Formats: sequence, C-alpha cells, structure tokens
Amino acid sequence: MQDQLDLDGDERLTLDEFRTELEGWRRYGKGTIVDEYSGVPVFVNEFWTSKQRAAHSLHEISYRACFKPQLPRFFITRLTDPGDVVFDPFMGRGTTLLEAALHGRQTLGNDVNPLSRLLLEARLSPPSLTEVDARLRSLSLDGPAAHPDGFEVFFHERTLNQICRLREYLCERRSAGCADIVDQWIRMVAINRLTGHSKGFFSVYTLPPNQAASIERQRKNNARRNQTPEYRDVAALIRRKTRSLLRDVRRQVPTGPVRGFFRQPVETPFAYDGPPVSLAVTSPPFMNIVNYKADNWLRCWFAGIEPEAVGITQTGRLDAWKALVRGALVNTAAISRRDGVFAFEVGEIRNASLLLDQVVVDVARETAWEPVCVAVNAQVFTKTSNTWGIDNNRAGTNSNRIVVMRRR
Ligand SMILES: C[S@@+](CC[C@H](N)C(=O)[O-])C[C@H]1O[C@@H](n2cnc3c(N)ncnc32)[C@H](O)[C@@H]1O
Repeated sequence: MQDQLDLDGDERLTLDEFRTELEGWRRYGKGTIVDEYSGVPVFVNEFWTSKQRAAHSLHEISYRACFKPQLPRFFITRLTDPGDVVFDPFMGRGTTLLEAALHGRQTLGNDVNPLSRLLLEARLSPPSLTEVDARLRSLSLDGPAAHPDGFEVFFHERTLNQICRLREYLCERRSAGCADIVDQWIRMVAINRLTGHSKGFFSVYTLPPNQAASIERQRKNNARRNQTPEYRDVAALIRRKTRSLLRDVRRQVPTGPVRGFFRQPVETPFAYDGPPVSLAVTSPPFMNIVNYKADNWLRCWFAGIEPEAVGITQTGRLDAWKALVRGALVNTAAISRRDGVFAFEVGEIRNASLLLDQVVVDVARETAWEPVCVAVNAQVFTKTSNTWGIDNNRAGTNSNRIVVMRRR
C-alpha cells in the first residue's frame, strides 16, 4: 500500500505548482536534471516507479505499446479532481481510462481500432467471479465447430473447437443485441488468452500475448521447437484469469462514470458536447515502430473485426506523423476546457537520434496548446519491468517522455 501512496500527489495542483514539483522532485533520492528544448524546460528524474504491485490487478491484460498505469495516475491524481473528465484519444487497452475510473474521474475514450473498447469496457464495470463462472458453466463449448484453415498450428483440435464455439456464441449474442457485461468480460479475457508463452494460454508456445505470429511463422516455430499444440481447457483458463484480474476489486472498484467512446481516426473532430475535458493523457503510435495490424490479427478474428478495415496510422514519414499529432492536438483542444492539461507521451526512436517530444512541442505551438514542460521519466528497465503487460514494449525506446501542455 505504501508504494501506492507514494505515487499520488497530496492535493490537486495548478499546472505551475506541478511544474515546480517536478523541478524540485527528490522522492527517490535524486534531484531533477533540468534541460531545455526551444524555451521549454525538460525535467529528467524517476517520477514514478515501475513496481507492478502499485497498479490495480484489473490493468493486467496485455496490449502492444501500452504504458504502465503509474504514468496516467501520476497526472490524474495531481491535476484533476474526482468527477473531472479524463480523455485518451489513442486509448489502446485503456490504461488512462481505467486508472481515471479507479480514481472516480469520468472517462472519455477513442481508438480507431474497435478492439480497444472490447478490451476496456468490461473492466470498467467488472462482473463477479460467480457470475462469470455461472455463464461459463451454462455454455456447451465441447463439440465440433467449423474453423479457419491453418489455426491448428496454434491450438489443439479440441481447444480450437471450444474457441470457435465460444466465438460463435459471443458473435450471436452481440448481433442479437443481448450481450451483457458477463459476455463482454468473457470475450475480453478470451481475447487475452488466445496466444502466449505459457500454459495459461489457449495456444502452444508462441509469441507473447500482445503479438500474434502469422500461421506460416508459427508452423516454422513448431518445427524448430519440435512442438505440437496440447489440449487447453478454454473455460478453465478464462476462469483462472478472471480470478487473477479481480483480485484487487475488493479494495478498489472503478467508480468513475463513462462519458463515451469514439472509434475514429484522431484526425477527424469528435462529436462531443458533454462537460469539457480537464485532462488528456495519451500515447500515439511511435511512427512505425509497432505493427498494430499484424500484432492484433488473431484478436481481431476472434472479435469479428476485419483488420484491414481499421485505419491505423503507421508511418515512417515524419510529415505524416506530424499530421497525426496535429489532429490529436487540435481535436482534443476542441473538447477541452480552457486551462485543461494534455500529457502527451512519446519516446526516443532511431537510437535516440529522433526525440519525438521535440516534434510534439513544435507542432503544439501551431495549435491551442502551450507547451509547459517535458517530463522525462528515466528508469532502469530491468528484466522484470519488461515483463509483458507492464513494459512500454517499443523497440528502440527506453524512457517515457511526456510533453505537458496547457489549453490556451
Ligand atoms: C501506443 S498505443 C496506445 C496504448 C495505450 N496508451 C495503452 O496503454 O494501451 C496507440 C493506439 O493508437 C491507435 N491508433 C493508431 N492510429 C490511430 C488514429 N489515426 N486514430 C486513432 N487511434 C489510432 C492504435 O490502434 C493503438 O491502440
């Protein structure tokens, strides 16, 4: 519990007080290194630690390039009050929004990939283990089922039948409009159990769960490792992961109401007329460092999403990336309150030769956002902190660089 308290601010700060806090930060013994870019102070220190136990168990689902809950928490607890609206225009697995809801803030989210909402929504109002258990028992997952060609490289035939029958049940419930929170929860957990490294997943040993190997690549992996998929009990693994995800719910539940979700490219304006956003905390794709389409193909199949139809921005061109950042800034400014804050997390790529925070500072100046400082959380990435699900998981990046901006 102590770790948890350490992460939070004592009280709501103004942005100027926040900047002063970062400058004088000594909580873990080291003083802040102060640098500068284009008139904007850059503060380097260990502002939050990567200790997994400081995060709520509901966060423990994997997603490519997710950030740790400690990051949005740092800003949410210092710069907003309960009831304020917190937004993430690139929400991914929804780390910002879940953390906001756990702290009683209202949540508003967007991601161009519909998978995001499926991963987040059920965790914002989790069902009980008893409800999940009862639903799983009511399903008849054993028996023949049609399945796509090639999937037997990942799954034992009986497991594959169970996956396909579960998928069919969930798709039917959704198209009939009667999928409830228990169905949504089961789908979210199943998406997360599809493939991975251990016996806790439905598949034979393959890539970490936030990346899916292609069928061809998995065929080669199996030959190299001399392995064939063993039987895994789909319902039993969903039950087990549910118990683990819910273990902290007794001490803290998400209470912040959901304002809504968008599923659109950030380059288009958000049709929102609710209370204005007080704080946005986000992390965009870092140019083309992560291949979201390839990584999520199997998850999209399970969820009935056509990956090619999802307009994810993945670009190696700096001008195209700037346009993406500009879109996120302009369209978030339009729904934010005056003096609202944007914490925009990026990294260093191409062996630190390109500091994306500098690009964000330059682009922000052309919009309604005034850059106030850059907070660089410099931490030692140990093997443990790189365990999937809590790492920042981007090849070539090793620090969180957050541009903090004020809405003019
Ligand atoms: C770095 S991830 C966000 C991870 C998130 N912070 C988390 O903790 O899970 C970036 C997200 O941006 C989404 N995305 C990519 N291009 C987009 C676009 N043009 N508009 C909106 N979302 C986009 C991707 O689907 C991906 O989920």
